[in-house]
Amino acid sequence: MIEELLPPGVTSSEAFDDAAPAPLFPAEAHLMQGRRAHRRRQFATARACARRCLSDLGRPAAALLPGPGGAPQWPAGVVGSITHCEGYRAAVAAPASVIAALGIDAEPAGPLPRGVLALIASETERAHLAGLASADPRIPWDRVFFSAKEAAYKAWYPATGIWLGFRDATLTLFPDGGFTATLHPPLPPPVDPVYQGRWLAGADLVLTAVAREDRPPPPNATAAGLITSAPPP
Ligand SMILES: CC(C)(COP(=O)(O)OP(=O)(O)OC[C@H]1O[C@@H](n2cnc3c(N)ncnc32)[C@H](O)[C@@H]1OP(=O)(O)O)[C@@H](O)C(=O)NCCC(=O)NCCS
Repeated sequence: MIEELLPPGVTSSEAFDDAAPAPLFPAEAHLMQGRRAHRRRQFATARACARRCLSDLGRPAAALLPGPGGAPQWPAGVVGSITHCEGYRAAVAAPASVIAALGIDAEPAGPLPRGVLALIASETERAHLAGLASADPRIPWDRVFFSAKEAAYKAWYPATGIWLGFRDATLTLFPDGGFTATLHPPLPPPVDPVYQGRWLAGADLVLTAVAREDRPPPPNATAAGLITSAPPP
């Protein structure tokens, strides 16, 4: 399912249960020591998905440990993202030379628990969602909204290390399956804070994905003479 939301160059792997064996690297197993069985299975299946992505990219299997803020640490030269929810685990990855940032999120289909929307959406966003719901009440728009903000955050955080709350982002959902998330960090953002994404609402699951294809020029591009603002003589 998740591949429907991704541009070429991004590989993905998903699972709908924890039935397939999913061995862990020693450091990963150590991390899961003492955790509940459900969390261990979820973690392991998502790691198996991530390693299938690495294999698709021609990369060796590697341990994927959480870095600061919980973001998974992918091998150098790879960007990726992981999600899991009831009945679903997935990972996506791409060469960092092709894709600048990736974020995915999965949620059970169905409305958010009562009271959550008021915490995560501004008045303007709630009016936007009400308009979408009156045009197409079959879609759990509030759940798509929640998921899309999380996908944008997962693309943003590994590049910046800056935590943002749900009210630090403005989200616009489009009925054609697209969305735009504009993040509002407290300081001038180190990367473009506007993310484009895709969403999908199935019978059981809501999936969202952000894939930033445009790469900023390397920081030393000007100094190295790779970029010049003056026209050639
Ligand atoms: C981090 C967060 C987005 C995870 O989402 P979730 O729905 O709880 O859980 P999911 O199963 O979809 O994703 C969990 C995976 O996300 C990844 N993840 C965790 N923290 C992350 C971070 N800071 N950046 C990127 N990925 C992260 C991990 O791979 C994790 O799985 P793992 O622990 O097995 O490795 C969420 O818990 C959170 O903190 N949200 C608050 C910030 C936010 O979303 N702001 C929105 C406006 S920008």
